Amino acid sequence: MNRYSPGRAGWTVACLATALAAPLAWGQPASAPSPKEVAKLRSLKLPDTPYNYANVELPAHFKSRAVRDLDNTPRENPITDNGATLGRVLFYDIRLSANNAVACASCHHQKHAFSDPSGKLSKGYEGKHTDRNAMPLVESRYYGRGRFFWDERARTLEEQVLMPVQSKVEMGQDLTKLVEKLAAASEYPELYRKAFGDSKVTRERTSRALAQFVRSLVSYQSKYDEGVAQVRSRNDDFPNFTREENRGKAIFMRSCANCHMPNNQDAIFSTQNTQNNGLDADVKVPDLGVADVTLDRNRTGHFKSPSLRNVEYTGPYMHDGRFAKLEDVIEHYSTGIKQHPNLDGRLRNAGGPPGGGRQTRGFDFSTGEKAALLAFLKTLSDPKFISDPKFSNPFEAE
Ligand code: HEC
Ligand code: HEC
Repeated sequence: MNRYSPGRAGWTVACLATALAAPLAWGQPASAPSPKEVAKLRSLKLPDTPYNYANVELPAHFKSRAVRDLDNTPRENPITDNGATLGRVLFYDIRLSANNAVACASCHHQKHAFSDPSGKLSKGYEGKHTDRNAMPLVESRYYGRGRFFWDERARTLEEQVLMPVQSKVEMGQDLTKLVEKLAAASEYPELYRKAFGDSKVTRERTSRALAQFVRSLVSYQSKYDEGVAQVRSRNDDFPNFTREENRGKAIFMRSCANCHMPNNQDAIFSTQNTQNNGLDADVKVPDLGVADVTLDRNRTGHFKSPSLRNVEYTGPYMHDGRFAKLEDVIEHYSTGIKQHPNLDGRLRNAGGPPGGGRQTRGFDFSTGEKAALLAFLKTLSDPKFISDPKFSNPFEAE
């Protein structure tokens, strides 16, 4: 078996051979990869010196107190270069699923800011559909409440990352078996040693490494970022924006930022907690969101929103993927808001007279305003983020 060989420019481990030998080692005929799966297993390629995940120089607008307050990194699991490297390998490894059919990356594609473009719902290891639309993974680190999933049912990211592994729909993998499987694979003990000091594979280390990788997925090189760095206030026109983009920015700051840019800061575009944004009027839809978890009827139809960074690439949109295009989302906020009893106050009188009081169907944007808002949302795209090799699939074709 080809092992770690430090002298080479990058190192390669023949995973194909691992996979062929593995059914014996795992003693699990059920998890023997089919020929089709074997074809998907490629060799692992990592740089000799790990990529920089721990000390990324973020622009000034990420360094404010308000942004630091949103950071959910726990003291006991800071990002290290070797920890995030291990997390990256795990994230792309189909062996995390019971039948070696899907990896995290099967539903979280880098090109789509780690969301799934394949449809409203994603397919798990046995082809069954998930209950909800796969969330993009951008700025997960800066969700201040540190809770995950659309309904916040995971209390920490460390807890969250092991949930898809065990889910009967997503990966169907027993954690005890996973630990055995990884410990028996040729490349992992060395990666665990580098990340955690010795080669022992444990659940906790697996969770910590995956969480480190997910927290490292920060996008900060969009046209918006270049613009905000050149002005005193985000409300000033950005010199690098077109007139239309600046117009869209003004609309966004007026109508959307109070939810999608929490804590009065200029860098983070995820909501600060859960809200009802008027998707349904009916209180009896099958997916009650937060209320299914907390049984609190005041939070029926409450969901968190993922970051809007790279939103151009992350369709379909909303927890059920009901909107295929960004134009549909904008139309929702313009004329489609439903008067659910828990509808957020900021949307109840959207477009109504100052001071509120009148229920409306939305912001009633003009055609020009809709086009401007769309143009602004596209300034949040970060082509470097969706092609950065340090976030890419380390299992490459020979
Ligand atoms: C079969 C598809 C699928 C696979 C495989 C999968 N996910 Fe997901 N992921 C989803 C869906 C769907 C959601 C939203 C589920 C919900 O809210 O109920 C989600 C949500 C998440 C979130 C929450 C993001 C947030 O902002 O709250 C994180 C983090 C995440 N996944 C990471 C992972 C990791 C790490 C793995 C691998 C261990 C993984 N996912 C495997 C489909 C998948
Ligand atoms: C009251 C807070 C609030 C306001 C104001 C608001 N949103 Fe949202 N937004 C949300 C919530 C909550 C979700 C997630 C809802 C769901 O999926 O059930 C969301 C989801 C989205 C999504 C989909 C994200 C994804 O990854 O699927 C987009 C895009 C979006 N909003 C854009 C906007 C725009 C543009 C505006 C202004 C016109 C706006 N929002 C105003 C709370 C808000």
